[in-house]
Amino acid sequence: MPILELTLHPHTLLRSKLREVPPHELHSSAIQKLIDQMIETMFAKNGVGLAANQVGRDIQIAIISTQDGPVAVINPRIVRKSFRKEVSEEGCLSIPGLFGMVKRHQRVTLEALDRHGKRLRMEGKGLLARVIQHELDHLNGFLCIDRMSKVTHGTMPDGRKKI
Ligand code: NI
Repeated sequence: MPILELTLHPHTLLRSKLREVPPHELHSSAIQKLIDQMIETMFAKNGVGLAANQVGRDIQIAIISTQDGPVAVINPRIVRKSFRKEVSEEGCLSIPGLFGMVKRHQRVTLEALDRHGKRLRMEGKGLLARVIQHELDHLNGFLCIDRMSKVTHGTMPDGRKKI
């Protein structure tokens, strides 16, 4: 299966709040194929997460890499987040070559639909919590560069080394 072309910054789709997927549409072969292709694309690009607007779609679907394999989350919401935050290095497939420090909640709980339309709950801490927050940001039109406190590799799209 061919992988999908990545949408790169700056692109208006990366700044759009994506629309919810009506649950009955989840059973369509188009959506199921998109999910499979997003998983393939994420692995091919060595990513740990991928949002639909990174492959040119305007719907609330993201793939999150977990210890149990890739999980598709549809119309996801963060329903709990820890008071405690931590700063760690982050990058994004849509902003190749740029890495920097981003402060995120240390633990979060996500609720969503799975690819079959069943309710799904995912609790994450550390890296998984970070990936969840990064991908949810994508679905709402935010990028990690909006939250980056310090660049560790590369330069900001506007040429800044620091914010
Ligand atoms: Ni990203």
